[in-house]
Amino acid sequence: MSADYTRVRRVGGVLARMSAEARDDEGARAIQAVLRKRGVPLQASGFAEALPRDATSRLPLVEEGQWPATPAFLTEEVGRTTSRFIEDAKNIALLAEKGVSARLGMLLHGAPGTGKSLLASYVAALLERPIYVVRLDSMISSRLGETAKNVRGVFEFMASREGVLFLDEMDAIAKVRDDKHELGELKRVVNTVLQGLDSLPDSVVVIGATNHPHLLDPAIWRRFPYKAELPLPDLSVRSAMWRHFLYANDDAREKDVAVLARISEGLSGADVENISLAARRREILDGDALPFPQLLLSALASRAGNPSLPDRRDLSAPERQKIAVALHKKANIKVSEIGRIMGVSRQMAHRYLKEDGNAE
Ligand SMILES: Nc1ncnc2c1ncn2[C@@H]1O[C@H](COP(=O)(O)OP(=O)(O)OP(=O)(O)O)[C@@H](O)[C@H]1O
Ligand SMILES: [Mg+2]
Repeated sequence: MSADYTRVRRVGGVLARMSAEARDDEGARAIQAVLRKRGVPLQASGFAEALPRDATSRLPLVEEGQWPATPAFLTEEVGRTTSRFIEDAKNIALLAEKGVSARLGMLLHGAPGTGKSLLASYVAALLERPIYVVRLDSMISSRLGETAKNVRGVFEFMASREGVLFLDEMDAIAKVRDDKHELGELKRVVNTVLQGLDSLPDSVVVIGATNHPHLLDPAIWRRFPYKAELPLPDLSVRSAMWRHFLYANDDAREKDVAVLARISEGLSGADVENISLAARRREILDGDALPFPQLLLSALASRAGNPSLPDRRDLSAPERQKIAVALHKKANIKVSEIGRIMGVSRQMAHRYLKEDGNAE
């Protein structure tokens, strides 16, 4: 009733989960949809959170993130670290009571598109806490001295909130050194971040993310007791991703999922998502599903961070051969099955492999 945006959102989240548990999926979705609207009705009531801003540019230094609507697919190890972290964060009060409270921080590192930002908001959703996203590069001001003030402003803002503070792109701090050719400025920024982290009350959960962990100052590295490297997805995670993003968890597509998962080693979650969404767009707009070989080629021609989107174009002979060889070598598929997948005779499939020196 006092238009407390954060609390309304939290209670809404609990209601949505209760509805989902009571198998009222439609009700749960409706509540989630309202919550995702960034508090429009509350803003209309005159309540808006005052976010800290850069004095010169007037741009906000913190953004309230959204809880994700899609699942996060994690390797077993990352899943375990995340569960442990969540358990600790849920029990901060108990731990503090017993005198073993500590700053709860988790550092996520890994290649682009492996789900670091997604995992941070997923953790916030599981903790039913708002997530405040800070991009350190936006805090680095052109005016000397402003940067430290910005950093302090953000930590002061967080101190009064029971939220998750997400420090995204943490390596930006290290870049100060290159941009300004000035070690003194870098030291000041690192020191203010350290002071900020140390000054936060235990109730604030901190998650950091970086693509370049080796650029991080060791003192910052130490402030995050939990660390998780998000690797490129393994076979079982890739299966889950294709199943979800491309086939909307349709059981009838398990064979195709298995093939795609095996030939897409080296791609990130973001790549799999991009290829899948492109294929689904084609299916909707052309009124017909893409042929499977075209999809396989797209996965094979993609490189991490640089997906090659599928289209309906006829495949050239070298492309067909490339697919056949990959099915044989990477997915261990029999020649007759390769022929079936490619829509050619067994003899033809055999010839593709023989030309590549792969026939048994
Ligand atoms: N492990 C994953 N599980 C589910 N979806 C994923 C996963 N990894 C990536 N994605 C999809 O790719 C999108 C981009 O991932 P995200 O932004 O979280 O990557 P990131 O690691 O933060 O990348 P960057 O280093 O570029 O910031 C996600 O929103 C999600 O849709
Ligand atoms: Mg990110």
